[in-house]
Amino acid sequence: MGAQNSKHGKVLPVLESSDSKAHEQFQYLLGRRFHNVSDIIYDLPNDEDEVDRLHLEHFLTRDVWKSNFSSPITPQLESGCKVLDAGCGPGTWTIEMAINYDKTSFVGIDISPIFPMEIKPINANFNKANILDGIPHPDESFDFVHMRYMFPSFTQKQWEEIVINEIVRVIKIGGWLELCEYELCQNCGPVLESLLSARREMLIKEGRNPDVARLLGKLMKDTQHFDDIYHKTKEVPIGPWAGKIGEVGRDNIVTRMIGIKPALSRFMNITSEQYDEIMQKIIKEFNDYKAYFVTSRWYAKKKAKNTT
Ligand SMILES: C[S@@+](CC[C@H](N)C(=O)[O-])C[C@H]1O[C@@H](n2cnc3c(N)ncnc32)[C@H](O)[C@@H]1O
Repeated sequence: MGAQNSKHGKVLPVLESSDSKAHEQFQYLLGRRFHNVSDIIYDLPNDEDEVDRLHLEHFLTRDVWKSNFSSPITPQLESGCKVLDAGCGPGTWTIEMAINYDKTSFVGIDISPIFPMEIKPINANFNKANILDGIPHPDESFDFVHMRYMFPSFTQKQWEEIVINEIVRVIKIGGWLELCEYELCQNCGPVLESLLSARREMLIKEGRNPDVARLLGKLMKDTQHFDDIYHKTKEVPIGPWAGKIGEVGRDNIVTRMIGIKPALSRFMNITSEQYDEIMQKIIKEFNDYKAYFVTSRWYAKKKAKNTT
C-alpha cells in the first residue's frame, strides 16, 4: 500500500492491486476513503477527516440541544438497561452515553468499522452490521434505540419497508425510539443554495428523500407501534454571525460538502477544481448570511401493535 496527501494535508493510504484486504474493505475516490459494501447508497467518506467531522457534529448537536436525547428514559438509563445506537459512526454518542450511564449496556452498529474496538468504556460494544440486512439482535432486545443523521443512507423505500420495521422490531414493548435528522437550510446564500439544490436533485434521482426528517413521524405512526409521537426542532447556526458555535456549524457543513465531492461533482458534471472554487465562494458567503439548519428529534414509546 502506498500513500497520498489528502486535501487537508493528511496522508491517506492508496490502494494497489496487491492489497486485496483493504481493497475489499474500502474504496478510494479523489483521495478520500469510502465504504465498499455493495448495494449501500451512503456516499460520505469514512476516513480520518470524516471521523473528525462526526466528532465535531456530535458536540455541536449536543450543544444545540443541551442534551444527548429527548426521550424521558433517564431513570432506566440510570438504573441499567440496554441501548442500541444504529448507524453509530465513530461511536461518539455511544461512548459519551456509556460513560454517563455506567449501569447501562450500549451497542453501536455501523457498516464502516470506524468505531473503537479497544479503548472504550466496558459497557460499550460495537459491531459491523448493515441495517438493511437486518439488525443482528433478537426481537425486543433494547429499551432505547437511537438513530441519528442517517438521511443519506437509505432510499425512501428502504426507510418505509426495512429500516423503520427493523429498528422498531428490536425495541422492547415500553421501550423508546428516538430519531434525529436535519431539515432544510434556512437563509443560505445563493451559492450554497445552488449546491444544496444539486444535492437534493441527486438524492431524489437515486430514490433518497432529502426531506425524510419531516416524514419520520408518519413512518413511526405507520408501524402502529406508537400512539404519542413527540417532535422537537432546534436551529443549528452556520457562520460567524452566531459566534463560536456558528463557526463550528460552518466547519461542519463545509467539511460535509467537501466529503460528498466525489459523488456530487460527478453528478454535477464538474471537475474537482470547479467544485473547490464553489466551496471557496460558499465559505466567503457565510460572512453575509444568517444561515442555519433545522434539526429535529422524533421520539415515542413502543406499545404492542394495534390489532384492530
Ligand atoms: C452521518 S453518519 C452519522 C453517525 C452517527 N449516527 C452520528 O450521529 O455521529 C451516518 C452513518 O451511517 C452509517 N451507515 C450508512 N448506511 C448504513 C447501513 N445500511 N447500516 C449501518 N450503518 C450505515 C455510515 O457508515 C455512517 O457512519
